[in-house]
Amino acid sequence: MAALKLQGTRLLLGITGSIAAYKAVGLLRTLMSHGADVSVVMTDSATRFMTPLTFEVLSNHPVATDTFSGHQDMPHLSLPESADVILLAPCTANTIAAYALGLADNLLSTLLLTTQCPVIIAPAMDGDMWEQTQIKQHVQTLRARGVIVLEPEIGELASGKVGRGRLPSEEAIVEAVVEKVHASKELVGRRILISAGPTREPIDAVRFISNGSSGKMGYALARAAQLRGAEVILVSGPTSLEPPFGVECVSIQTAEDMYHALRSRFSTVDVLIMTAAVGDFRPQHCREEKFKKRDWKGEPIQLEQTTDILAALSAQRTHQLLIGFAAETDDLLENGREKLHKKSLDMVVVNQVGGSESAFDNDTNEVILLTRNGSVTPLPRMSKHMVAARILDELQNFPMPSSVLPSPSLSKR
Ligand SMILES: Cc1cc2nc3c(=O)[nH]c(=O)nc-3n(C[C@H](O)[C@H](O)[C@H](O)COP(=O)(O)O)c2cc1C
Repeated sequence: MAALKLQGTRLLLGITGSIAAYKAVGLLRTLMSHGADVSVVMTDSATRFMTPLTFEVLSNHPVATDTFSGHQDMPHLSLPESADVILLAPCTANTIAAYALGLADNLLSTLLLTTQCPVIIAPAMDGDMWEQTQIKQHVQTLRARGVIVLEPEIGELASGKVGRGRLPSEEAIVEAVVEKVHASKELVGRRILISAGPTREPIDAVRFISNGSSGKMGYALARAAQLRGAEVILVSGPTSLEPPFGVECVSIQTAEDMYHALRSRFSTVDVLIMTAAVGDFRPQHCREEKFKKRDWKGEPIQLEQTTDILAALSAQRTHQLLIGFAAETDDLLENGREKLHKKSLDMVVVNQVGGSESAFDNDTNEVILLTRNGSVTPLPRMSKHMVAARILDELQNFPMPSSVLPSPSLSKR
């Protein structure tokens, strides 16, 4: 089956108080039929035209309408963070004005101020409103900021008059979304190997030594790199996460499995990103059967070190860029720098583990990016999806060796 145009894409559909709000039902279904995962936000006025229930049932997600009683903590921050594109359709003159002026008087206008993600506006309004100088100026302001404002269509309007103000066709809106989603393909032609999650070092047939890594950071990176056009291989320890769409996933259990899975693919990739929390120690002996409680005489479990995967692969590198993660409880900068130099890495992403703000098993992370060029970039706490985007942005600053540059036919830049 041919890949769906929006498979793996997360859209936030903002619906505002236009008579064309009913058309958002068809639009939502069409976007979903192209594979998009769509969450809906409605303004109060929009709920006067259509019920949130309709969109809740069709989108399989709760519909957010209120800044103060959201189903999540601070929806104006959390909702846009997991979106690849925000689409306002239909978008009223009022919401266009609020966005252009930076007003934040409802959930939709507030979240528009918190996001860096691409925004597409499909306006719908009376023809006279669209022609107003104020609206023209607001549209100009938004376009100058990089917001895509589609032209409304000419036709019969709700007032019975004919003019320009009708919601652009579903086809035009979907096309604009598809174009935007596929626009940032700067990693086309790159092969990226990413490790994620914890490892498990068996003690006996049922017990193991592991850690609290959820894999969320590595999965977010795999997804973001795939969306930017890279061919991604994700080598993952046990997690409860869905494999990202379009990513080759390799499941492993132990540090040794992970080393073999990475080593066998290392020579074919351009970049290795090690987010996995690989166990540093494993029991010297693993019992094949379950060790009975009554048989234990107080003898300790002897541990031995596992392979330092990053150091081992760093020694084997030919052209690859290497990015490591340093999970530290203290002296973040110092420990991060040491890892960067000791393992000859191109970048280290340092984060704090331990405590309530721990990077482990959290949806957000606060990291510092250290590069071999000496740059130090502390990032504020943000979702792991945003952290992933910032790491990939930083990757663009490293020249890739010519031996691995994509062929011109593959490059869409
Ligand atoms: C029946 C009816 C239809 C409306 N249709 C539109 C419309 O198509 N476009 C528009 O900009 N405003 C329209 N409005 C006015 C908006 O609903 C009003 O400006 C509202 O404040 C918009 O709020 P919002 O931008 O927060 O959704 C309509 C109002 C009514 C009563």
